[in-house]
Amino acid sequence: MTSVAIVTGASSGIGAATARRLAAEGFHVLAAARRTDRLDTLVTEIEAAGGRATAVECDVTSDASVAALAEAAAALPEPVTLLVNNAGGARGLDPVESGSVRDWQWMYDVNVLGTLRVTQALLPALEASGAGTVVIVSSTAGFTVYEGGGGYTAAKHAQTAIAGTLRLELCGRPVRVVEIDPGMVKTEEFSLVRFGGDAERAEAVYAGVAEPLVADDVADCIAWCATRPHHVNVDRLVVRPLAQAAQHKVHRVG
Ligand SMILES: NC(=O)c1ccc[n+]([C@@H]2O[C@H](COP(=O)([O-])OP(=O)(O)OC[C@H]3O[C@@H](n4cnc5c(N)ncnc54)[C@H](OP(=O)(O)O)[C@@H]3O)[C@@H](O)[C@H]2O)c1
Repeated sequence: MTSVAIVTGASSGIGAATARRLAAEGFHVLAAARRTDRLDTLVTEIEAAGGRATAVECDVTSDASVAALAEAAAALPEPVTLLVNNAGGARGLDPVESGSVRDWQWMYDVNVLGTLRVTQALLPALEASGAGTVVIVSSTAGFTVYEGGGGYTAAKHAQTAIAGTLRLELCGRPVRVVEIDPGMVKTEEFSLVRFGGDAERAEAVYAGVAEPLVADDVADCIAWCATRPHHVNVDRLVVRPLAQAAQHKVHRVG
């Protein structure tokens, strides 16, 4: 029997690519996000390619919405074996001195508390499957800091702390915890969201970088970790484009 994979933030970027890839691997994908029009298009695409997917409207900052996601998962006949906590993002690039508390609050609520809410809601089903996997999409910002990145790096450090803590706490139980830490990934919306819709500023992030990672590259890493034999726990996978040797060391042409 096939099993269920839940992907949060599946309406764009890494989440959408992961949903497509996991469906191709044979999972029934529960694609969750707030924008259901985009999820419906994704589901149609996955089904046209011969896969199985279901769209679920979910705001990871809402307890009720996350409870409804868990109910939608429980209503499916297949066991739930995989949760990909991907919903998240950055807002602003301001110094700590003048950063917006609202931006920080948003980043904490979506990245950190969103991961907490969804993981808590789905853990019973993942454990009941006898072979569960929790993936947390953190970032290289989960172990590095940079100027202007205070709010985002703090949130990603917190997600990394959740992954490490949860792995210790679940030791001896049938749920593994995998942390994925991408560097620069060129997705359609990540930098646009960060800069409040300023397309020029968003594009400048990738200026001169011949080949930044794309969403499919990260989806590939997630799918690889999730499809190893269940006794193999990839604790943490750090992935960057070749042009990015470190957060501050990016090779740009021109
Ligand atoms: N792009 C990068 O360079 C990069 C690098 C390292 C790590 N990451 C991490 O990878 C993840 C995905 O990034 P991305 O580049 O694919 O960004 P993206 O294209 O902006 O996608 C973000 C996703 O999160 C969802 N989301 C935002 N708020 C939500 C909420 N309250 N409830 C449910 N879903 C919500 C969005 O869907 P809706 O708006 O429809 O809800 C969207 O599907 C994020 O956690 C990000 O921090 C990205």
